Amino acid sequence: MKIVMLGAPGAGKGTQAQMIAEKYGIPHISTGDIFRYNIKNGTELGMEAKQYMDKGQLVPDELTVRILLDRVAGEDCAQGYVLDGFPRTIPQAEVLTAELDRMNDRIDYAINIDVPDENIVSRMSGRRACTNCGATYHIVYAAPKKEGICDQCGAVLVQRDDDKPETVLNRLKVYHEQTQPLIDYYGSRNVLKTVDGTGSLQQVFKDITAILEG
Ligand code: AP5
Ligand code: MG
Repeated sequence: MKIVMLGAPGAGKGTQAQMIAEKYGIPHISTGDIFRYNIKNGTELGMEAKQYMDKGQLVPDELTVRILLDRVAGEDCAQGYVLDGFPRTIPQAEVLTAELDRMNDRIDYAINIDVPDENIVSRMSGRRACTNCGATYHIVYAAPKKEGICDQCGAVLVQRDDDKPETVLNRLKVYHEQTQPLIDYYGSRNVLKTVDGTGSLQQVFKDITAILEG
């Protein structure tokens, strides 16, 4: 099963992708997490990506596509995967489609998590992320058992550098300009499913599993 998660920054792509990956035993691949891992480890890739991410801009397609294709070629991806934050532009989607075509394969579902812009800033300001395993929390909606500590691995939770309100607003603008057109792209390929992302984490997950098992 190959799944693409669509939705605005903060819509819950990462949260739901993590739950899908666990339930169906497929890898959760987030280009944002790959970039953050590289930033944390001070790699050249991380330093390049950080310049864009801190401004709320997209990392150039060429670099992003190279990293993603390399990752999905991994052996653990043979049975499928859930992509979170990729594709994010039409050219990225076209490269992915061409690569899958080459293998007589395709994306099975593009799940669009629909959340209005008004809800996004408050979600982002309460988000906390694990510095070690990347797990995502929210101080109100998805609090860790122990404040500031990851339930899964015990590492420290931090606020992401790009979750400042002014950066969030720019990320939303970039989303509407460059990523939202993917809703039509996957719609025209008959794999688009939209879920209401304003319900609870569990409700959204229930709606997604109903689609995947329907
Ligand atoms: P990325 O890491 O992908 O960030 P994003 O798309 O902006 O999305 P977020 O991770 O902010 O949100 P999410 O939808 O995953 O929401 P979450 O589940 O955390 O990308 C970061 C940057 O990297 C980009 O700006 C760009 O620079 C670069 N980049 C990455 N991929 C790229 C690409 N393909 N091309 C070019 N550049 C790329 O949820 C948010 C919060 O809400 C959490 O606190 C969560 O607990 C809470 N929450 C989730 N669901 C609910 C719910 N139902 N109710 C209440 N709270 C909820
Ligand atoms: Mg995310």
